[in-house]
Amino acid sequence: MSATTISREQAAGKVMVALDYPDAASAETLLKQLEGIPCYMKVGMQLYYAAGPEFVRMLKARGYRVFLDVKMHDIPNTVKGGAGSVTRLGVDMFNVHAAGGRDMMEAAMEGVEEALAADASLTKPTVIAVTQLTSTSEEVLNDEIGIPGTVAESVARYALLAIASGLDGVVASPHEVGLVKDTCGPAFQTVTPGIRPAGADIGDQSRIMTPQAALQAGTDFMVIGRPITRAADPRAALESIIEELIQA
Ligand code: C5P
Repeated sequence: MSATTISREQAAGKVMVALDYPDAASAETLLKQLEGIPCYMKVGMQLYYAAGPEFVRMLKARGYRVFLDVKMHDIPNTVKGGAGSVTRLGVDMFNVHAAGGRDMMEAAMEGVEEALAADASLTKPTVIAVTQLTSTSEEVLNDEIGIPGTVAESVARYALLAIASGLDGVVASPHEVGLVKDTCGPAFQTVTPGIRPAGADIGDQSRIMTPQAALQAGTDFMVIGRPITRAADPRAALESIIEELIQA
């Protein structure tokens, strides 16, 4: 694919740093190290269950865009309530499981719309569906969950259900970006974990891609945790990823 030049700020904005920490104090150490870099911050269930809405408000007050990765999956009425709460909290992105079905995803969008209608100062968050977790193999999908076919077929089916339900995109493996864009169109957003700069520890991720390859594959946002958070010098690690994206 031909190279498109992106600015430093655009490159930084494509990186979602996964703040997978047990409490606010440990996350704060990383925030100090990354100060001034306009990356997206991802708050997952580990940190959110410990540090709560207050931590998200603090990130917003410091100017960060925030992806609240809490993967809602419940009856439609409950997800609608959850979606309303996180919209009022001011997150820029949150996600729900596509496996909850169309009514549930539509209820999430209703929760967002009702919150926005009640307070004009709020901004509409991007709502993303989790398709199949990257930890789900074809064996687990078929034998444990009971869904026949390949993981790719299930991802495409869930992505179509998500777009039909009014959602903005999906979380997917960087290897599935082409499939999702082909199935749902180029404007349907992809958020991809499983990113590893050349030479970084793979950890428990299996189907990985480098930041540069993921950008070239067309991903909109890349979630990167341990290659930054566990680096000897997290700031240098993030700067080098941003540099790699600018050069892509
Ligand atoms: O440390 P690492 O870069 O592997 O972090 C990846 C992040 O993306 C973690 O916060 C993980 O929970 C999240 N994630 C993932 N696979 C998914 C969905 C989210 O790795 N399918």
